[in-house]
Amino acid sequence: MSRRGKFITFEGLDGTGKSTQMRKLAAALRAAGHKVVETREPGGTAAGEKIRRVLLDSATEGLSPLAEMALMFASRAQHIAEVIQPALDHGQIVLCDRFTDSTEAYQGSGRKLGSEAVLKLHRVLCGDLQPDLTILLDSDPAMSVGRARRRNRRASHGAIKGGNDSSNKNTAKHHPDENRFEQQNRAFFTRVQEGYQAIVAREPQRIVKVDASGAPAQTHRRVVGVVGRKLKLAARNS
Ligand code: TYD
Repeated sequence: MSRRGKFITFEGLDGTGKSTQMRKLAAALRAAGHKVVETREPGGTAAGEKIRRVLLDSATEGLSPLAEMALMFASRAQHIAEVIQPALDHGQIVLCDRFTDSTEAYQGSGRKLGSEAVLKLHRVLCGDLQPDLTILLDSDPAMSVGRARRRNRRASHGAIKGGNDSSNKNTAKHHPDENRFEQQNRAFFTRVQEGYQAIVAREPQRIVKVDASGAPAQTHRRVVGVVGRKLKLAARNS
């Protein structure tokens, strides 16, 4: 399969500011004249967004770690077929908020299912599609997870209010309860963090760690620098 576009993924613990950085990079690349597709996992397609709801809703009870991993890959297989591969085939730049490294870090390491199972499923279900570049946003786990928890609590509060008020349906639609992972304990996120570090050690060519502890604008400049250096893609800073 020919791949003319570029596939860039963003990874990191919850609340490291991935979505903000992805948006900023997309704007900078577009300003430099590139065609950019922004997407996310789990989700990114109609079916994938339904799977996302099951996976992230804190009302989902008793999902086994294996079922959780299978759903992550179901969403991903559809996402590749419907969005990622077609965009790459058209020479576009695909920016994706999380990809298989998340499954390796969260399910492989966090849920203790192991890397081998994840990599095997990736080969079978995703045709072993690899990002050209992965940006791992690195910040203190306690800080970033705390931030994600506060954000999602605010969002799900909006969802409850939206659900009671018919004039506010969009709030309910766009801010579902996505707290299931954030409810995990410190030990879980420590394992996820270690999982990411192991991937960086194994694939230093593909994954670049970017310090995300400073101001968003500072992190953005670092991200633009990495993209320019690794992929020779020009991006105009905002
Ligand atoms: P995301 O929306 O990126 O959350 P955040 O913005 O808080 O980082 O991802 C949703 C959650 O799904 C996040 O807690 C990580 C988890 N996840 C996995 O456990 N495995 C996966 O393969 C993916 C893609 C996400």
